[in-house]
Amino acid sequence: MGLDEIKTKKKRALGRGREKITYRSTINPNMVLKIGSYNELMSYKEKSEKHPNIYAKIFEVRKYNGDGWYTGVAIMEKVDTKKFLSKLRKLESTLESFNVNKYFIWNVTNLSINDQNFEDRFNENYNKSVKLLEKHDTEMLDFMIKFINCLRGVLGGDVHEWQFGIDKDGNIKCFDD
Ligand SMILES: Nc1ncnc2c1ncn2[C@@H]1O[C@H](COP(=O)(O)OP(=O)(O)OP(=O)(O)O)[C@@H](O)[C@H]1O
Ligand SMILES: [Mg+2]
Repeated sequence: MGLDEIKTKKKRALGRGREKITYRSTINPNMVLKIGSYNELMSYKEKSEKHPNIYAKIFEVRKYNGDGWYTGVAIMEKVDTKKFLSKLRKLESTLESFNVNKYFIWNVTNLSINDQNFEDRFNENYNKSVKLLEKHDTEMLDFMIKFINCLRGVLGGDVHEWQFGIDKDGNIKCFDD
């Protein structure tokens, strides 16, 4: 079964961060195997079960006897990070062509601090972007709205553009926060 691949197959990492290593599954191309802290992977699994529209799904976590903090391995839904990043770049350049600050989207994560100025500025940029995208690029409008909804739902503090991907149904999902 899926998780046993981690012991048996020669692997090339798909991605590697400070805490986790991610491999392609050779058995199921829609899955990845992720090695990290068992407890962290378990708490991520709970989070993805509570918020399936925001987080990439973890199907199973098992104990793993790796070096240091690599105590767990998870089987996880694979998302397309390249497609996500290329759409984000396109959105950013479109926003720039509208004279909208391309970073405004990320401020959605600061709205929780309840700063009226922040909120006003965000809404101003958001409304302006929606209006222009409705007219010039409805595909990018769809992407922007999906991304903002995903960002609104992300709970952790480590939010950056390398933590997202697009699933097989075209939804944007976060896989680490
Ligand atoms: N579900 C997934 N689908 C596709 N690629 C993934 C998935 N999860 C992780 N990756 C790839 O592996 C990389 C590292 O994964 P992840 O962010 O979970 O590890 P990390 O060690 O916490 O990284 P960092 O500390 O840099 O945030 C990602 O940047 C991405 O390229
Ligand atoms: Mg990460």
